[in-house]
Amino acid sequence: MKTLIVYFSYSGNTKRLIETINKQFNFDVARIERKEAYSDDYNTCAYVEAKKEVENHIHPEIKKINIDFSNYDKILLFFPIWWYTFPMPVGTFIKELKGYTGKVIIFANSYTNDPQYMVNSMKDLRAIDSKIDFQEGLFNQNAEKHINFIKNL
Ligand SMILES: Cc1cc2nc3c(=O)[nH]c(=O)nc-3n(C[C@H](O)[C@H](O)[C@H](O)COP(=O)(O)O)c2cc1C
Repeated sequence: MKTLIVYFSYSGNTKRLIETINKQFNFDVARIERKEAYSDDYNTCAYVEAKKEVENHIHPEIKKINIDFSNYDKILLFFPIWWYTFPMPVGTFIKELKGYTGKVIIFANSYTNDPQYMVNSMKDLRAIDSKIDFQEGLFNQNAEKHINFIKNL
């Protein structure tokens, strides 16, 4: 069985992280993207669009990911923290993953190193789908730490 990396990235930090990590592994990769792109303007994205989604638990439409997830026994899910939890398009992805029987391992990063963000993310992901086997990965660690962690999975 295989491992898949799925990630969401707005300003590029998460994308750069997974690209560095994946030089070691060469796993298949899929990107979560909102169907209607967020504004390029950081403040509009952060303080208007994303804030509204988080506050109202809106899971926006995402672009179709043409992958048969059942071919993978592990999904490594990477995202930045948005307003203390995962970005809402990640919630849409989890809804669409319904019925997935493998493990989904969570890797988050944020500007502030507040461990509560990982706690919130795990709780909020499980609230979307309590049947999926979510496992905590790493929070705000460098590529090397990720590589070691993933090698030991
Ligand atoms: C909409 C939005 C909300 C954010 N909310 C938080 C937050 O609650 N706490 C925090 O520490 N950083 C927050 N950040 C910062 C990002 O988590 C951080 O810059 C991350 O590394 C960005 O990853 P990316 O470049 O892959 O998008 C936020 C950024 C955006 C755009």
